[in-house]
This record gives sequence, C-alpha cells and structure tokens, in this order.
Amino acid sequence: MPEITNARHVVNEYTSGYPIPGQTTVYDTTQTIDLDTVPLNGGILAKVLLLSVDPYLKRFFNPGSPVPLGSPITSYGILKLIRSEHEKFTTLGAILIGHGNTRHEEYTIITKEEVASGSVTALTPYENLPLSVYIGAAGMPGLTAFTGWKKYADPKEGETVFVTTAAGAVGSLVVQIAKHAGLKVIGSAGSEEKVKFLKELGVHVAFNYKTTDTREVLKNEGPIDIFWDHVGGDSIDAALENSNIGARYIICGAISGYSGQPAPVHNLARIMYSQINIYGHFVIPLIPQYQAAFDEEIVPRLADGTFKYREDRLDGLEKAPQALLDVLNGGNVGKSVVVVGEE
Ligand SMILES: NC(=O)c1ccc[n+]([C@@H]2O[C@H](COP(=O)([O-])OP(=O)(O)OC[C@H]3O[C@@H](n4cnc5c(N)ncnc54)[C@H](OP(=O)(O)O)[C@@H]3O)[C@@H](O)[C@H]2O)c1
Repeated sequence: MPEITNARHVVNEYTSGYPIPGQTTVYDTTQTIDLDTVPLNGGILAKVLLLSVDPYLKRFFNPGSPVPLGSPITSYGILKLIRSEHEKFTTLGAILIGHGNTRHEEYTIITKEEVASGSVTALTPYENLPLSVYIGAAGMPGLTAFTGWKKYADPKEGETVFVTTAAGAVGSLVVQIAKHAGLKVIGSAGSEEKVKFLKELGVHVAFNYKTTDTREVLKNEGPIDIFWDHVGGDSIDAALENSNIGARYIICGAISGYSGQPAPVHNLARIMYSQINIYGHFVIPLIPQYQAAFDEEIVPRLADGTFKYREDRLDGLEKAPQALLDVLNGGNVGKSVVVVGEE
C-alpha cells in the first residue's frame, strides 16, 4: 500500500491565553504512513474513529506543557484495530477505547509498553449506545459526575444543590443524578439554548448566568446544601453568600481561570461560619472504586433513556482546534466529540 497522509492536531506554540486555531493549535498534514509496513515493534496500529475534546486539554498548550512543540496532543478516544503484534489484541476490526492517551492523529501506533500498561482496552458497547457516548456520559465525564457525587455529596432528600456549567458533559449528568436523588436542583449555563436543555432535563431552576444575577437566584431559591462547581472565582463567592450550615462543596473544575488569570475568592470567612466542607474532586483516583457501580447504575440508564446526554459533534480532525477553543469559551453545546474516521 502506498504512503498516505496521517493528519495530526499538534501544539504549535504555548500560551497562557486561549489557544487560537491555526496559530496555537494546528491541523498538520505533513506526516505520511504506510499502514502495511509501518513497524509496530510489538505494539498495535489503529485507526482513530472519535476523539474527546475536554477543557483539561488546555494544559497541553500552557507554558510548561508536557507535549513538545510539533507533537500531537492526547485525549480519550475510540479506535479500530488495523494490525497487531500484541497478544492482547488479536481480532482485527475490534473497537478499542483509549484512556486519555490517544494521540490526535488519524492513524496511531500504540506501543507494546502502552498496551501492557492498559492504556487501551477492548470496548463492547450497548446496542443502542453510540460509540461516542463511551468518551462522554458513559466514559470519563460521566464517571466524574458519578464518582464525585457518590464520594462527597452526602445528599438528603429535599436538599438543594447548585451546579455551575450545568449543561456541559459533566454538569448535565450531575443535575440528573441529583434530581433522581430527590433534591431541588439549581443549574446555571451560558446561553438560552443551554438553559432550554436544562429544563428538558428537569432542572427545577435553570438560568443563564450571563443575563441573570446568580446571587439573586440563590437568594430566592436557596440556601444551598450542595455546591458542585466547574467555574471558580465569583461563582464560589455567590455560593458562599447563600449556603446552609454544613453545606458540601465539590470543586470539580475552575474553567474561568484556565485561559487567563484565576479569579479570586473573597468570602473565605463564610466557610468557617457556615461550617462548609470543601472537597477537591479528581476523577482518576476514584475510578477503581466506583467503575463497577457506574457500569451498573448509570450506563444502563443512559442506554434505556432514563438519563439523557447531548453531544456537540464536529466532523473531521481539522475541526479539533476549533472544538478545543469552543469548550474553553462556551461555544460547545453538550459533550464535544470530533469524528475523525468512519468505522
Ligand atoms: N475534576 C475532574 O476530575 C474533572 C474531570 C472532567 C472535567 N472536569 C472539569 O469539569 C468542568 C466541565 O467539563 P466538561 O468536560 O463537562 O466541559 P463542558 O461543560 O462540556 O464545557 C465547558 C463549559 O465551561 C463553560 N465555561 C467556559 N468558560 C467559562 C467561564 N469563563 N465562566 C463560566 N463558565 C465557563 C462553558 O459553558 P457555559 O456556556 O455554560 O458557560 C463551556 O461550555 C471543567 O471545569 C473541567 O475542567 C473535572
């Protein structure tokens, strides 16, 4: 077979600001690959079908990034096996999931060492769940919602929870889990379209934080018992002003500071007076403890439609730079997924 282009999404420069498509984040078509003869050295060769675009990918473009200039970034991905020299994968055409280290390129070699470390595993999806959901609501973002809720929320029926970025990949599952647990759910999002989605999910109080004052909403609809935050800065201050004694705060993200100066928090004394418990939530170390419960409690309910999800699908790896900018500035509606290749 002749050499074919193997396009990639690479880091072209580092920035503490927003990554600009074509400047910071570049779609590169200079590399080629011969799928029949490229050496695998005991590893496997896969076609990349889908890539997840998540806010944390910004770290690959920050000064001090672990990704060298000119190299592709990595994320969660769905792959199809083309060739294998590893005993773990013998069925050509099998669908695999890459756990965070799928390189943003059309065809990818996973080394013997990477295969051995479990960086890819075989995927057997539910019949009525698209593969893309396994890098969204049935994958890492869904696990983020589930593990944080199980570990830290300590919910009691009738309590009130406030979720920021509530229409996003993580937030939209948090609000549904909270609603099913019998809580009053307040959710904020950055556009009318996202607020409409939150209402479809059954969120009791859904509002656009860009046009409605968060403090007014929390004053009227709170005080809150659980605060699930993705934003940081002023959203934490607004919550601190409107919390019940003994509230639990789950700090899951701080996206308002990912592409610029982190915003300060002013109301720290209220943590003491309201005896608030603040939990820093990071999904990765919690997965071994909760994966089985997630597979039992959440994935079947995504498949049968009890829990809903929304995707923002962009066709073609050349869209990956724009997809990243979108998740960092609110341009995505639902889980951001780049469709790289056909099955
Ligand atoms: N702790 C963990 O283990 C873990 C794991 C996964 C994700 N996360 C975090 O969870 C959060 C959500 O991730 P996701 O994958 O579900 O992404 P997402 O919510 O689908 O997309 C990111 C959203 O963040 C909002 N946003 C962007 N800039 C903002 C700003 N300056 N102020 C307020 N909101 C802003 C936008 O929504 P609006 O239009 O509604 O503003 C944007 O759509 C992120 O902070 C991410 O880093 C944490």
